[in-house]
Amino acid sequence: MTINARILGAAAGGGLPQWNCGCANCNAARAGEIPPQSQSSVAVSGNGRDWAILNASPDIRDQMAKCTAVHPTGLRQLPLKSVLVTNGDIDHVAGLLVLRESQPFTLFATAEIHDVLAANPIFDALRDDCVSRSRIALDQPFELVPDLTATLFAVPGKVPLYLEGDVVKTDLVGEQTVGVELIAGNKRAYYIPGCAHVPADLADRLRGADLVMFDGTLWSDNEMIRAGLSQKTGQRMGHISISGPDGSMTAMQDLNIKQKVYVHMNNSNPVIDPRSDQTRQAEQGGWTIGRDGMEIEI
Ligand code: MLT
Ligand code: MN
Ligand code: ZN
Repeated sequence: MTINARILGAAAGGGLPQWNCGCANCNAARAGEIPPQSQSSVAVSGNGRDWAILNASPDIRDQMAKCTAVHPTGLRQLPLKSVLVTNGDIDHVAGLLVLRESQPFTLFATAEIHDVLAANPIFDALRDDCVSRSRIALDQPFELVPDLTATLFAVPGKVPLYLEGDVVKTDLVGEQTVGVELIAGNKRAYYIPGCAHVPADLADRLRGADLVMFDGTLWSDNEMIRAGLSQKTGQRMGHISISGPDGSMTAMQDLNIKQKVYVHMNNSNPVIDPRSDQTRQAEQGGWTIGRDGMEIEI
């Protein structure tokens, strides 16, 4: 058995270029010097026929148009059978509104994330008689699509930006931010686009995996402040950085993971420019920088 993954969108919320951003990376993408990247989403399959999309980005319409694996096979027959969202962030749920054309699919998420969607009537555009909303308990395996089993597990994170109160806890461990384990036969893959740090139990879970697609939002915690783009650190956004002693490269260097791929890169991250020194450093550290359209088979 094999697991197929297609990176539909490798960028974090905002994408590359971000509409209102004049940073060096966004300008380079506008000038055609580096490839634009769309917002965070991956399509996965365990048999090459039935596909699930992990996170529905606002770019999903264009992403699906570019991904032949999910094109219709009949008038309204689609290889896309299910959609799973790992948190309630806008970059991961806004694309659900694009999928409102009375096409049956199953929407998987934790109960907490389903409650966030249910509290917002605009998502009623996904009619109950078409889209079945399946509430998934943590650490309970379920069939994501035929021949591919998934399990959701809590990773440190925070509530979506639009639900933040006055006091924000950025490393909540519960149903608001999850990672996905994917199993087909003896193959084991992970998709974790948002994660505030790597606690020991997460490291143990990932040990020996065939593939890990992981939160590559920022290269360093204060890069957006240094670039004058924002007052926020990565930690404040609930995202671990790639580099440094507390970064994900260090946290995962000795876990014997066969293939490590960064996803969900912010446009401030130097690795979003394939020409950067940091891209080379990440590659020397055993990582691949995810890019739109990348196909991975394990
Ligand atoms: C994040 O990943 O931190 C969020 O997507 C940020 C946002 O909602 O803009
Ligand atoms: Mn995001
Ligand atoms: Zn930018």
